[in-house]
Amino acid sequence: MAQTDKPHTLWLGRWGFFLAATGSAVGLGNIWKFPYMTGENGGGAFVLIYLVCILLVGIPLMMTEIMMGRRGRSNPIDAVRKVAIEGGASPLWRIVGMMSMLSGFLILTFYAVVAGWSFEYVLTMASGQLSGASPELVGQTFGQFLESPGRLLIWDTLIVVITMTIVGLGVQGGVERNVGWMMPGMVVLLIAMVIYAGNSGGFIDGLTFLFAFDFSKITPTGILSALGHAFFTLSLAAGAIIAYGAYLPQDKSIVKTTLTVAFADTAIALLAGMAIFPIVFANGLETGSGPGLLFVTLPTAFAQMPFGSLFGTIFFVMLVLAALTSSISMVEASMAMVTERFGWSRPKAAVILGLLVWLLSLGTIVSFNIGADWKLFGRTIFENIDYLTANLLMPLGGLLMAILAAWILPRKITANELNMGNTYTMWLWVLRLVTPTCIVLIFAQQLGLIQF
Ligand code: PHE
Ligand code: NA
Repeated sequence: MAQTDKPHTLWLGRWGFFLAATGSAVGLGNIWKFPYMTGENGGGAFVLIYLVCILLVGIPLMMTEIMMGRRGRSNPIDAVRKVAIEGGASPLWRIVGMMSMLSGFLILTFYAVVAGWSFEYVLTMASGQLSGASPELVGQTFGQFLESPGRLLIWDTLIVVITMTIVGLGVQGGVERNVGWMMPGMVVLLIAMVIYAGNSGGFIDGLTFLFAFDFSKITPTGILSALGHAFFTLSLAAGAIIAYGAYLPQDKSIVKTTLTVAFADTAIALLAGMAIFPIVFANGLETGSGPGLLFVTLPTAFAQMPFGSLFGTIFFVMLVLAALTSSISMVEASMAMVTERFGWSRPKAAVILGLLVWLLSLGTIVSFNIGADWKLFGRTIFENIDYLTANLLMPLGGLLMAILAAWILPRKITANELNMGNTYTMWLWVLRLVTPTCIVLIFAQQLGLIQF
């Protein structure tokens, strides 16, 4: 058993951790980001690299993060520090916890904005204003929305307030209670969308785009993005999984939980791709249109289908909920840190962190309108935060975590905590060799040091 300084919160129900971790993993990453990144990076080859990254980097690291959290039973900084000390390593390893916490926090600053778009679309759909609209009109509607910082700000503010309220009240009631009905609802609606897409006339083109590997379309940046997205979509190196792992009872199987969460997450991303790309091709839309993709394709489909306004409304409600179960997990690391280290109450911590997130989110809001030309390294503020977190902080944090867990910590700690019998050796060697090699190769290739 891990040493604990004080009695620590645990998930209430038998499925508490599983629901919370799935809630964290499944979100805008699957339904908004995965399709548009696949579109920007040329399709199938990107998808294949992404799947390989989930398998060789994502799954072993998710197990590691849950293990770190549970063994350390604290916020990510102190959890990593405690486990490192227990294993005779330097307490400086806590820097891995810090990087993760920072990533999660920064991600929230743009995630809240996009969750806000989904909120706007609940109303757009419910009002029926797009019913029967042409693809052009649907595209213009979204474009006009993005050009209005005030409207983006209202929804962003609402998302930040809801997120911080749930987190301020404590995770158990909010997350545990809602993910259980939301996920199945989401899956049912996605399948309905895939069926619609199947009859849209673009199904074959869509599936070909998604699953045929055309390696000539892949670029070093595309490969790095696939790796970054594997981290993003599984909520890794963002503090979330370590923080949630800290509340995991000792008798739960880390392996089984990880595999189920990773499977659910991947299935939902692929379903989203299968719903979106056929519609893109059937309507002659752009695959590479970027962050707006989801908000143009799906409403285009809803505009034409029977009961489209109704389905559209339900769909975007689900999307908002899926985004919220992710957004709350992004600040849990910071919440745990300031409550444990500074002794702040959760409500106080929620107000202060919420204000900070909200201020930083203004940078993302202006990236789509008045600040669209304010560029650094050729990227807008939103694109920089996205790049910094997904393409730099997360892979680097994951690399350090792999080294710590597989090379530095004594086997008796990891083997005891993971409790996975014979398969332990597999986890160990994948994490020792394969995971770091993948990350290092991808970095080296992005930097132009090697080519493949
Ligand atoms: N995994 C979430 C998604 O795919 C995003 C996320 C990233 C959540 C980092 C928590 C931490 O939408
Ligand atoms: Na995800």
